[in-house]
Amino acid sequence: MSVIEHSAPIPAGKAKRTAASHGYVLRRLFQKGKLGKVFVERLTEPLHLNILSLFVALLGSYRMKVAFDLIVRQQYAFPILFAADAAKLHGYKKVTLVELGVASGAGLLTMCRIAERTTKATGIEFRIVGFDAGTGMPPAVDYRDLPELFQEGDFPMMDFEGLKQALPANAELIIGDVNVTASAFARTLTPDAPLGFVAVDVDYYSAAKAAMPILTAAPENYLPVVPVYLDDIAEYGSSNWTGELLAVSEFNDENSMRKIAPFNFLRSRRIFKNTQWIDRMFAAQIHDHPHRSPNHKRATKWVLGNEYLAAKKR
Ligand SMILES: C[S@@+](CC[C@H](N)C(=O)[O-])C[C@H]1O[C@@H](n2cnc3c(N)ncnc32)[C@H](O)[C@@H]1O
Repeated sequence: MSVIEHSAPIPAGKAKRTAASHGYVLRRLFQKGKLGKVFVERLTEPLHLNILSLFVALLGSYRMKVAFDLIVRQQYAFPILFAADAAKLHGYKKVTLVELGVASGAGLLTMCRIAERTTKATGIEFRIVGFDAGTGMPPAVDYRDLPELFQEGDFPMMDFEGLKQALPANAELIIGDVNVTASAFARTLTPDAPLGFVAVDVDYYSAAKAAMPILTAAPENYLPVVPVYLDDIAEYGSSNWTGELLAVSEFNDENSMRKIAPFNFLRSRRIFKNTQWIDRMFAAQIHDHPHRSPNHKRATKWVLGNEYLAAKKR
């Protein structure tokens, strides 16, 4: 039995669901490079944690499975649960999730399935939006787009109609160049469903840069901290001067009250330390969010007890 939990789209019916689930996990596991990655990430972790994982896989709650990295596309499962918890804390009922770069849609459908499971675990609802050109990668602009790796026409959307039909009612696809669609979309954001997670998987510097207006709408349209997953920063040739990291660096230069930085202390808080997604997880700090103003008051006061004084009284 696989210890990796399925989170991909599944057909109706329990038997079909289980078979599809195992099929998906196995297909994913045998994709080029995946098995080696799982071995490196998992077998370099302490044995007792891997044994514990088996029990969590069989008996654990969804939250425990996320904590033990047992959900396929953990890089979506962690931030979506994080966003739901933050939404609850700040009094929101619904959160918007975005995938920039959809290709044939495996990531977007997995995001939908993870969102559904997160709703069951937390009660928070989601609006899910996928962005893609539809025709594959546009031409690279220059060396900053890493043309030695990514080229025009790569990753076309293979079955637009099929993908559209497979999407649940709370998900939508926005087809077109993010140069145009990202800022138009930012104008549709509302405080009823603030943006709570962005997965950046457009590969190029130029596309990631063009998509950044998604993070520049009025502050009440975001959660105060928005996890941003940068998929393509471990590639050959990627650095602060190329690819998605360059787009982030320029975003930080251009926006005084919004900063995208690595997700602080994430590794020390995770049970499994060796997974690559931890290094790809960033967070957009919405410093001008109304809940981050000194005028925003919590309903309850924080009070620290003092066990030394309490012991003296006894
Ligand atoms: C690696 S694929 C995405 C894979 C997908 N996230 C998944 O997990 O299956 C990158 C996608 O980014 C899209 N893309 C790149 N530049 C774009 C642009 N300027 N506007 C819209 N989409 C773009 C391409 O069409 C391509 O499908």
